[in-house]
Amino acid sequence: MRIQHFFDPQTFTLTYVVYEPATGDAVVIDPVLDYDPASSQTSTGSVEAVAAFLERERLKLRYVLETHAHADHLSGSQFLKRRFGAPVAIGERIREVQATFQALFDLPADVPTDGSQFDRLLADGEEFQAGALRIRVIATPGHTPACVSYLIGDAVFTGDALFMEDSGTGRCDFPRGSATDLYHSVHDRLYSLPDATRVFVGHDYQPEGRPLRFETTIGASKQGNSQLKASTSKEEYVRFRTTRDATLKAPRLLLPSVQVNVDAGRLPRPHANGNRYLHMPVNIFGPTDEAGIPLPRA
Ligand SMILES: [Fe+2]
Repeated sequence: MRIQHFFDPQTFTLTYVVYEPATGDAVVIDPVLDYDPASSQTSTGSVEAVAAFLERERLKLRYVLETHAHADHLSGSQFLKRRFGAPVAIGERIREVQATFQALFDLPADVPTDGSQFDRLLADGEEFQAGALRIRVIATPGHTPACVSYLIGDAVFTGDALFMEDSGTGRCDFPRGSATDLYHSVHDRLYSLPDATRVFVGHDYQPEGRPLRFETTIGASKQGNSQLKASTSKEEYVRFRTTRDATLKAPRLLLPSVQVNVDAGRLPRPHANGNRYLHMPVNIFGPTDEAGIPLPRA
């Protein structure tokens, strides 16, 4: 098994191609569709690079795997599905995320909340084949309820649950996020994997400008993760995470990302004039009246 990474410096996202050279079977984890918010224009440079790699190595794409509905980039899954005919899979609790954002964004009725726009919904503990690759699903909720990690051979792809030691863990303040859940996901689930298990993270924010790093091990994380070590108590972590999250800004692409990604990475259907429109809610995090004056909190 080999692993090729792709890094999107705009959103600090890691996309992985995991493949078996002997058979050519491959999966792609967390592809990115580029999006410029100022012009509201997508482009395909990041996902084209992944596609070019698959073609150059003559790989057969068996699945596109999402670790969760991302809130910081648009998914490139539909591009890869179209190009290679590969099904798109995500954790089955995506339905809860869809219901939450359907209510928040008042999404159109053609965005179902039963997960049916994904080709496969994955349950905790489920194992499946992607050609010669055997994949185990480990539910790792907390950043979102639907987050999963994928264990393939001796490598686990942790999405936004577990980051490099100096970045810690994912934030837990999105709707339906839970620091307590993330503690259990990392401390009880991921840290029960063998210490030698290789960890491939979903983002690397390159703290203090250090060079890109995206691979560690379960053993190194247990010893050295700056937010959640094997020795960290739940109370300690939840207090830290909640305090830290209160200081974080919304991700730059939060509003466009979630409405596209809960619909399996599909852009909104065109209106009668042929144009596609994203919803841009105003003041959902701090409701106001039409003059912009804050409404009393209910
Ligand atoms: Fe995320």
